[in-house]
Amino acid sequence: MKLSMFLSYACVFVFCATFFQGCFSAAPERQNNRRKQPKAGPSTAVFPVGGGIYPDGHFYARVNIGQPPKPYYLDIDTGSDLTWVQCDAPCVNCPKGPHSPYKPRNNVMQCKDPFCAFITHHPNFPCHNPSDQCDYVIEYADHGSSTGVLVKDNVPIQLTNGSVLYPALFFGCGYDQDIQGSSHPPFLDGVLGLANGKSSILSQLHDIGVVRNVAGHCFSHNGGGYLFLGDDLVPSSGIVWAPMLQNSHEKYYSLGPAELFFAGKNVAKGGLSFVLDSGSTYSYFNKQAYQATITMIKKHVDIKQLKDAPEDKTLPVCWKGAVPFKSVSDVEELFNTISLRFKKAKNVMMDIAPQAYLIISNYGNVCLGILDGSEVELGDLNVLGDISMLDKLVVYDNEKQRIGWISANCDRLANTDPDYKEASNSNISREKLYVTPDYSVVLSMLEDCYEVDIFSP
Ligand SMILES: *[C@@H]1O[C@H](CO)[C@@H](O)[C@H](O)[C@H]1NC(C)=O
Ligand SMILES: *[C@@H]1O[C@H](CO)[C@@H](O)[C@H](O)[C@H]1NC(C)=O
Repeated sequence: MKLSMFLSYACVFVFCATFFQGCFSAAPERQNNRRKQPKAGPSTAVFPVGGGIYPDGHFYARVNIGQPPKPYYLDIDTGSDLTWVQCDAPCVNCPKGPHSPYKPRNNVMQCKDPFCAFITHHPNFPCHNPSDQCDYVIEYADHGSSTGVLVKDNVPIQLTNGSVLYPALFFGCGYDQDIQGSSHPPFLDGVLGLANGKSSILSQLHDIGVVRNVAGHCFSHNGGGYLFLGDDLVPSSGIVWAPMLQNSHEKYYSLGPAELFFAGKNVAKGGLSFVLDSGSTYSYFNKQAYQATITMIKKHVDIKQLKDAPEDKTLPVCWKGAVPFKSVSDVEELFNTISLRFKKAKNVMMDIAPQAYLIISNYGNVCLGILDGSEVELGDLNVLGDISMLDKLVVYDNEKQRIGWISANCDRLANTDPDYKEASNSNISREKLYVTPDYSVVLSMLEDCYEVDIFSP
């Protein structure tokens, strides 16, 4: 299992510079004025998504980088903001990913570049020699880390208005990865950081006026889904919003205070806050909430149909049925929905259906995808991981400082989904549906662009 919220950044400008002299020169950045970006209003970038909860443990975006573009599978991580790809630097420690590592070519960022300051958390980070390369170290909550150097390259992005742009974006080229959490292959090519920091690809695209500062993802229980940067695909009604928590974890997307309900009964009163972390496979509750939830679930489990299965080590809590289960829908009826109620946000609720907290292990047992956060040193933090965001469109609106969600069929794109009946009943959204482009066209362009069938898991 993987937990990808970042803990800290640190810059180590000098140490690595000598080591990689051979491959990275401090030559000025390559100018790329060949493609002019036409001026127009913001649009929305769409990325096809692959992966799943179990056994994959991650959802990844298919992103192309460079000219000519090469494909990379990047772990979608709303818990950190720096995007990085494995780097052919050469690599000290690069677990084999689906694609060959990114090869820098005189496009390494210098530490005098203002962007370099963004990854240090404090703008006055010393830059002794302006032409030193801009190195980064990022550590994640599961003690995994990536060390590398910032580079700048063109990233082709497919927009919903039909254009493909090639903005030059900066990202990390990671030449030393310690990926503890994802102890099982396949490893990915890197991480797509979507948290609200200046270094994120989202902020960069927003700063050059290409998209609004809004991101959304829709992960399907069948695996795959879609990711977008911008606000074109946000349904104009039916979506529930709650304000983002402004707290010491300012770079995390968090919600709260929330009360926790199971089968309609209050499990944990008062002020739980939840970090939405798509870099985490499973969800984590703090010790008290975890214990209360487990007690409730066990109380409701029908012991005639489900027996404890401590021999199954897939996750800490598993149950066995009379015959092995094939999918979570086999056990849906045996479990209740967990709900979060956000009192300060007009009591809006987020329902976490059994589908969004249970998995079926390789042994055919049903296992609980909510874990005890105190065992991974999360303290009082609660984390909603991928599993609890399945089959929802989740939207992070940094402009209005709010997070929205709506049940969705993530095998299809939001505005073409007939399930959005509510949306199509209001005048505004009909108008919106009318003016938005035909997403099947966008999708087929995506497929051409990525040479993959984005709907096949
Ligand atoms: C699509 O939006 C982008 C970003 O604003 C813009 O540069 C491009 O010109 C637009 N394309 C069309 C066809 O309107
Ligand atoms: C929708 O449009 C019709 C016709 O223009 C109007 O009569 C009606 O009041 C509108 N409904 C809403 C909810 O705005």
